[in-house]
Amino acid sequence: MGTPRQMDWLEMDASAPILLFDSGVGGLSVLRAVRAALPDAPVIYASDNGGLPYGPKSEAEVAARVCGLLGRMSERFRPRLISIACNTASTIALGMVRDVLAVPIVGTVPAIKPAAEATRTGTIGLLGTAATIRQGYVDRLEAEFAGGKRLLRFAAPELVGAAEAKLRGQPVDPAIFARAASGLRDQPGGTEIDTVVLACTHFPLLADELSAAFGPDVRFVDGAAGIARRIAALTQGQTFARSAPDFALFTRADDGLALLQPALASYGLTRMEQL
Ligand code: DGL
Repeated sequence: MGTPRQMDWLEMDASAPILLFDSGVGGLSVLRAVRAALPDAPVIYASDNGGLPYGPKSEAEVAARVCGLLGRMSERFRPRLISIACNTASTIALGMVRDVLAVPIVGTVPAIKPAAEATRTGTIGLLGTAATIRQGYVDRLEAEFAGGKRLLRFAAPELVGAAEAKLRGQPVDPAIFARAASGLRDQPGGTEIDTVVLACTHFPLLADELSAAFGPDVRFVDGAAGIARRIAALTQGQTFARSAPDFALFTRADDGLALLQPALASYGLTRMEQL
């Protein structure tokens, strides 16, 4: 006789998906790491494009959207695990989502701990959305893992739009990346930054452009590999078998979504559905 959770595993359909959730395309940076760790795992990539961007929204609005949508999605698709592949949604709503859903939830935590371990100068930059950088969650990570270091934060909402445009094959103004770099560097002590936390899942999709803007002496850290490890640990012993190709799910119909098809296909998402 196993525990209820073990019984669930024994009875779990091998085609039950892992659901990755973000406001837009940012969670694809997490999907890349999940694919590397669990190539056979069926995945639904869910984007709340109807609510994008989350960064300028209030805590209440983000929490309500994320809890409501994940409730509907888990009822409809019965995922074995949900990953909130979005720093803004996780830092605001992770606790609430865990309180209301029985399915295991893996959140996205700004990678302050690995950045604090990596920095040589003791000065770390953090790029995120406006909502993420003001969260108490980030203050707590700073106090716990970056004591004695200097953490400089900058909200870079333009980078969210830049990642969305890049994945649609649209041109992006390079001044956006220069503004993100100077937003950190121009703060007191900012020239000492040698490590930058990409605390928004959209930003690793712009790694080359950000690297060019910050120069060769700055390294970037993000949480994708850690999330994939956590998902692999929580699904250890489970079997995976796709019964249909993986797909992307959107909350709003939008003609522009067709432009995303090639990028989504490169992540193994060959269909699009609407919630
Ligand atoms: N990808 C999301 C994050 O990690 C945020 C983008 C948005 O503003 O919606 O924070």
